[in-house]
Amino acid sequence: MKRSERPIGVFDSGLGGLTVFKELRAQLPGENLIYFGDTARVPYGTKSAEAVIAFSREITAFLLKKKIKLLVVACNTASSLALDAVRKVSPVPVLGVILPGVEAALAAAPAGGKVLVTGTTATVNSRAYSKALAATGARVRVLEKACPLFVPLVEEGWCSKPVASAVAREYLLPFRGKKIDAVILGCTHYPLLKKIISKVMGPRTRIVDSAHAAAARARLELAERGELNSGRKGKSQFIVSDAPEKFSILAFKLLGIRTGKVAVKRF
Ligand code: DGL
Repeated sequence: MKRSERPIGVFDSGLGGLTVFKELRAQLPGENLIYFGDTARVPYGTKSAEAVIAFSREITAFLLKKKIKLLVVACNTASSLALDAVRKVSPVPVLGVILPGVEAALAAAPAGGKVLVTGTTATVNSRAYSKALAATGARVRVLEKACPLFVPLVEEGWCSKPVASAVAREYLLPFRGKKIDAVILGCTHYPLLKKIISKVMGPRTRIVDSAHAAAARARLELAERGELNSGRKGKSQFIVSDAPEKFSILAFKLLGIRTGKVAVKRF
């Protein structure tokens, strides 16, 4: 197989990374994509760095066996805690979602503006976004808020139930009057709650996520290496570590993605 025809591997703890997968599919229609959702071990955001690193390494080794040419870590928690560890064991380039999220936030917040980072407890505690924003030298004030209940709501498919709005109000209403210019959805599950988050924050606040910028970065990386597959329509394959039917139903219900048969790989 020519190198350009090799698949791109994408992984997350569950459904959330599908928000990145969808953008990859839109921006790279010729690419073969393999998505892995670690549904047996979701959520990652409440686990230790050691656990997230171990899971991420296992999944990386599994995807490398599928002869991927690029790995997209479509999970902020794994990107915050395990990116270096994954890069150490990967012979192919590895892209995370933190820098794309930072890029999106800086495009939305003016100099001197305020950015609220939302994410899992592990991501917020790692301060990966604050550090990455500071490293750009941009003059923005950064606030952070962990919203751990958002992930189970999404994994349950409860994105537009009243309970989702109640939880969003509980976490975010205290920030509404604080002149926030941009909220970073620093978890790939959160774009599925974008409407209710936006409603709580009010119209002056832009809600940004890393999916678009992450897919654009993947495209650039492949173009620079001369590894773009611009042939015919690319194939999509989905693999999870548990409950494939539930994954397939929710992928369609929440994102309109038709997965076909979802394979299972248990670790
Ligand atoms: N979607 C992931 C993230 O971006 C992980 C959420 C979780 O499993 O807690 O952080």
